[in-house]
Amino acid sequence: MSVSSRTLGFRKMDLARAVFFVVVAICCGAFRTGPFVAAQGTGPFAIRIACGSTVDSIANETGFTWSHDFGFTGGKSGPLLTPSRIAAQLNTVRMFETADGQQNCYNISVPSGHYLTRFYFPFEEPDNIRPIFDISLEGTLVYSLQPGWNPSVDSEYADSLLHITDGAATVCFHSSGHGNPIVASVEILQLYVDAYNMGANANLNVVMRTVKRVTAGAAESGYGSRMHADIWGGDRYWATDQSLFAPGSAVDVLRTNATIASFGNPPNIYPEAIYQSATTTGPLNKLSYTIPVQPNQNYSLWLHFAEIEAGVTAGMRVFDVMVNDQPLFPAVDIVAMAGAPFKAIILNKTVMSDSKTLTLSFYPIKMSVAVNAFEVFQIIPREYATFDDSVWALQSIKRNMALPSRMGWNGDPCVPPVHPWYGTKCAFDSVAGAWFVSELNLDMQGIGGQLDDNWVALRQLQSLNLSNNLIEGAIPSSFGNMTSLTVLDLSHNHLNGTIPGSLGQLSNLKALLLNDNSLSGEVPPALGALPVRGAMLNVANNPDLCGVGIGPCSKLSTAQKVAIAIAVLIGLILLVAGGVFCWKKLRSIGRGAQRLPREAPYAKARTNFVRDVQMARTAIQNHFSRPPPAYQAALNPY
Ligand SMILES: *[C@@H]1O[C@H](CO)[C@@H](O)[C@H](O)[C@H]1NC(C)=O
Ligand SMILES: *[C@@H]1O[C@H](CO)[C@@H](O)[C@H](O)[C@H]1NC(C)=O
Ligand SMILES: *[C@@H]1O[C@H](CO)[C@@H](O)[C@H](O)[C@H]1NC(C)=O
Ligand SMILES: *[C@@H]1O[C@H](CO)[C@@H](O)[C@H](O)[C@H]1NC(C)=O
Ligand SMILES: *[C@@H]1O[C@H](CO)[C@@H](O)[C@H](O)[C@H]1NC(C)=O
Ligand SMILES: *[C@@H]1O[C@H](CO)[C@@H](O)[C@H](O)[C@H]1NC(C)=O
Repeated sequence: MSVSSRTLGFRKMDLARAVFFVVVAICCGAFRTGPFVAAQGTGPFAIRIACGSTVDSIANETGFTWSHDFGFTGGKSGPLLTPSRIAAQLNTVRMFETADGQQNCYNISVPSGHYLTRFYFPFEEPDNIRPIFDISLEGTLVYSLQPGWNPSVDSEYADSLLHITDGAATVCFHSSGHGNPIVASVEILQLYVDAYNMGANANLNVVMRTVKRVTAGAAESGYGSRMHADIWGGDRYWATDQSLFAPGSAVDVLRTNATIASFGNPPNIYPEAIYQSATTTGPLNKLSYTIPVQPNQNYSLWLHFAEIEAGVTAGMRVFDVMVNDQPLFPAVDIVAMAGAPFKAIILNKTVMSDSKTLTLSFYPIKMSVAVNAFEVFQIIPREYATFDDSVWALQSIKRNMALPSRMGWNGDPCVPPVHPWYGTKCAFDSVAGAWFVSELNLDMQGIGGQLDDNWVALRQLQSLNLSNNLIEGAIPSSFGNMTSLTVLDLSHNHLNGTIPGSLGQLSNLKALLLNDNSLSGEVPPALGALPVRGAMLNVANNPDLCGVGIGPCSKLSTAQKVAIAIAVLIGLILLVAGGVFCWKKLRSIGRGAQRLPREAPYAKARTNFVRDVQMARTAIQNHFSRPPPAYQAALNPY
């Protein structure tokens, strides 16, 4: 049911999607036949979007295809002023202005699976304002650019891991009124389904937002693709650790070209390069990293070690790992745990951090510490979605009523909860585990079009205000099925036709405002119950409306009125005919009366005269008192 309404409704979008599918197919094809064929036979799904671009391009360094995004979302294209840090040929951005609405999304068809998504936000506003905006993935808020964000400390970059199960990745940019959201690139790169599995499928219901992914002791930051990493690793970006040392840390660097054992095991498949450098300290000196985080959140930590200092064997280097001065992994002996030097080991653990910084510390017990790499993810519980049929209903309303794009009705109507669609208020149905729209306030928006049966899918809608718009046509009788409605305000529109009697089923109504329209006919008598139980009913200023709340209707239809008119006419004709008859008769009686005095002695004659007069009077009275047959017939229906 909902599928067909979607298919019918979104012709334009479907076309765009079809084109996108082609783009996607080309990308996949490139993986299957091109240089990026993974060991498994088919490569990971990957789509890279050059935001604001009208053409596809291929990156020289990597051979990756970058797709244009023209026609896939709102906003406008602009130039990228500083060189792209992800692919040299990228030279455009996409910017979402106020007229595009508060929420703009990419809806990208992807096979179900586990993905790394990555964005770059350039620092490009012509007036040099750093825009502040939010980004959501599948309705879950994953990233908020903070005031004063600074490209030089990697804050223009964000990546997250999540599972996509509904066949499309929905990436939305939410304006918060401080500058226009702007984005240079969006990448959606497939990982192994069980990558970063924290146990018990826990990561199906979370988004893992990368807080830091660090290659310690490396000379420079880099992408997996440029570290010769397996393509199933999602081309992760590894930053150097230079900006993260806590004050007073005395550090040194270890590097090697030697081969590392066990570096690229599935499912996470890390690049070898991250194990070929390490940050170390002097003897018995501690090493600390200070990472800004949001307080009272859960963080998943992944620590990477490989002993790369020649001659260090089991039992020689031992250290404690602490987070915010709580033990995380005690007495770590890398060589003993890995079973050999130059062999990778990975430790992971999830912690709750209640402070604004997460301090990751390494305390030597024997010799010194050596850290090769680490990753810190914030674990963000995924938002529940809005009921599918509500989403489709709102999408069809957006289409049929030509809602202005400034409303930005894109993505999910209710989530993230801090960015509901313009005019909507949502509530959570904890039994069904889904959001629903509880209020829709689209008054004074210049909305036209007609109401239709699609609205009924907003079954839990409690308040609908469409007043002061240009809505035409009739009120669908299906509105009587929106039984949760307490407020229905359709006043000041161009609605016509009769008020459907089904509105009488809306037993929760506290206010029904239909005034100032062109409604006609009788207000359904059932609505008379509204004022009786203290609810507001306003049906004023509908020129052809009558009944409850306005004034009594003539009980007669037009046909009935015509019938009455004909009956009255026949009555008049009979009256006139009767009158003429009587007049003639009276005249003849009058002549007799004149003669009467002369005949007075004859009582019989006089008696006859009186009887004649009475008979005439009865005949005339009968014309008045007996209803004409046509009139009687017309009244029969009552
Ligand atoms: C952190 O994890 C614990 C245990 O899984 C959970 O109860 C808690 O709600 C999580 N906190 C946040 C903010 O997600
Ligand atoms: C992460 O740690 C958990 C236990 O803490 C373990 O079960 C899981 O295998 C580890 N994951 C990886 C990929 O090493
Ligand atoms: C995104 O596209 C998918 C199909 O490709 C569709 O099922 C879904 O409804 C779309 N979502 C939005 C918010 O348009
Ligand atoms: C609907 O919106 C109008 C403003 O356009 C407001 O005056 C009216 O009170 C609202 N209706 C209800 C029932 O709140
Ligand atoms: C109501 O308005 C619509 C659209 O303006 C028009 O097509 C229709 O004929 C009108 N119906 C009545 C009963 O006036
Ligand atoms: C409204 O409810 C009636 C009775 O439950 C049902 O027959 C009808 O199909 C519903 N209309 C819509 C548009 O859902």
